Amino acid sequence: MNPVKIAVLVSGGGTNLQALIDAEKSGVIKSGKITLVVSSSPTAYALERAKNAGIETAVADKHAYANRKDFEEALIASLEEKGIELIVLAGFMYILSPDFIARYKDRMINVHPSLIPSFCGDGFYGLHVHEAALAYGVKVTGATVHFVNEITDGGKIIMQKAVEIHEGDTPETLQKRVMQEAEWLILPAAVEKVSKDILTEE
Ligand code: GAR
Repeated sequence: MNPVKIAVLVSGGGTNLQALIDAEKSGVIKSGKITLVVSSSPTAYALERAKNAGIETAVADKHAYANRKDFEEALIASLEEKGIELIVLAGFMYILSPDFIARYKDRMINVHPSLIPSFCGDGFYGLHVHEAALAYGVKVTGATVHFVNEITDGGKIIMQKAVEIHEGDTPETLQKRVMQEAEWLILPAAVEKVSKDILTEE
């Protein structure tokens, strides 16, 4: 069976993308193949990571389009051109429309840097998530990989991993620990699981 064709959608540094690239190389991901990396920003370092790994890239910059519909149509065209079967949102800082989400139902997953349902939903992204966890004073946080549905961070949970908060943590130190101890492990594992499930369905 051919591996599932995966597109990874990114906006920034792309450390989760790197974890996926490394996992494919090491054989942790074997049921899927990263076929396309799409960035919402032309300057995202994630694009360099994709190029270094020999993966095709595309830029879907919303500022380059008159409205959200045109932007998403261009995004869909680049996904369809490559025959993408699974979309992975890895630090993609753009809320997709309900129409887009419905089109990729059960075929789009996201990594979020907290234990959902804590510190998630609209406005909770990147460092803000860790600022909120520290402000609340929780002693344990973590990361979640979930299917994407019409509710922000509200889709079915695929995997979660807990991470301890340390005395003196800053949003930056916590973000790094959550990435190292949770995101970079559960995202590749979840991608393999979902890809394998898609292959078994076929
Ligand atoms: C990651 O921590 C990811 O979980 C988070 O943005 C960061 C992207 O880092 N995503 C969200 O907050 C989505 N709500 P990366 O570009 O280095 O992978």
